[in-house]
Amino acid sequence: MPRTTRPLSGHPVMITGAASGIGRGLAQLLSRRGSPVAIADIDADGLKQTAAGLSGPVLTRVLDVADAADQLAFADEVRAWLPAPLAAVFNNAGVAVSSSVLDAVPADDEWLRRINFDGVVNGTRAFLPILVEQNSGAIVNTSSVFGLAGMPYQSAYCGAKFAVRGFTDALRQELRGTGVSAVTVHPGGIKTNIARNGRVRKDPEGKGRTHEQMAAEFEAIAMTTPEKAAEIICRGVERGKARILVGPDAYLFDILTRVSPTHYFDVLAVVMGAARGRAAKGAGR
Ligand SMILES: NC(=O)c1ccc[n+]([C@@H]2O[C@H](COP(=O)([O-])OP(=O)(O)OC[C@H]3O[C@@H](n4cnc5c(N)ncnc54)[C@H](O)[C@@H]3O)[C@@H](O)[C@H]2O)c1
Repeated sequence: MPRTTRPLSGHPVMITGAASGIGRGLAQLLSRRGSPVAIADIDADGLKQTAAGLSGPVLTRVLDVADAADQLAFADEVRAWLPAPLAAVFNNAGVAVSSSVLDAVPADDEWLRRINFDGVVNGTRAFLPILVEQNSGAIVNTSSVFGLAGMPYQSAYCGAKFAVRGFTDALRQELRGTGVSAVTVHPGGIKTNIARNGRVRKDPEGKGRTHEQMAAEFEAIAMTTPEKAAEIICRGVERGKARILVGPDAYLFDILTRVSPTHYFDVLAVVMGAARGRAAKGAGR
């Protein structure tokens, strides 16, 4: 079946998690290209900063994506604000937790699940009716390469990101034959605040690293900038892709999990160990 192309430039979009990282990158890119942007985040100050850097029409909304009722209220506000059909809904907000399963703190895992999975479901349910009424537009849900591969000390994150992938794939089948699409985004490592803002009670690898050191290590090995990630995501949506891999490392995860669904980590552990070694050398450690 030929893919439907979906121009984004100049068309209104909604983005959650727009106060930082990939969400901010998407808002900046699309606003620069003439799109009116409705942007939401739980971080009011960060959201203000994003909005201050945009030149076109913008609707800002402080929102906890885990709050289903507030997502519905926000969707009503966006509907009333829309100057033209809504081209895309980016359910992008997310957080990180790093812990072994043995040491997992249930409240941390619950916090992550409520944002990374329920937040995506809430956003989809709230905004899908707008797209279905128009019979156009894309629901773009952010999973991760950790939604392709299970990684140690990332059980809550992987659980939520695999769930985003399953939920979005199921939605895609329901939307077959309509003008609305469902897209899953699988970023590799992107240099954002995600590790710094995540919850870590102790170094799960037992190396005694502080949260700050672990965040710095993540940022050193992450291969892609949020601006580049935003470009790749927008290009993928515009080309009508159902699944968007972001960054060269995302392609490696994709290939390895296809070729060796049970042994991919044998290779990933070596590749990631080498990347960490290079990063530590670069930092003079
Ligand atoms: N950075 C990476 O390497 C990477 C890799 C794969 C997937 N992702 C995913 O990309 C998405 C964006 O993350 P990022 O890397 O830009 O991180 P980031 O921390 O820079 O941005 C995440 C944004 O989400 C917001 N947020 C957190 N909780 C929220 C809530 N309850 N309601 C509304 N907003 C909330 C934060 O305030 C922040 O502005 C996330 O879903 C993340 O899981 C990131």
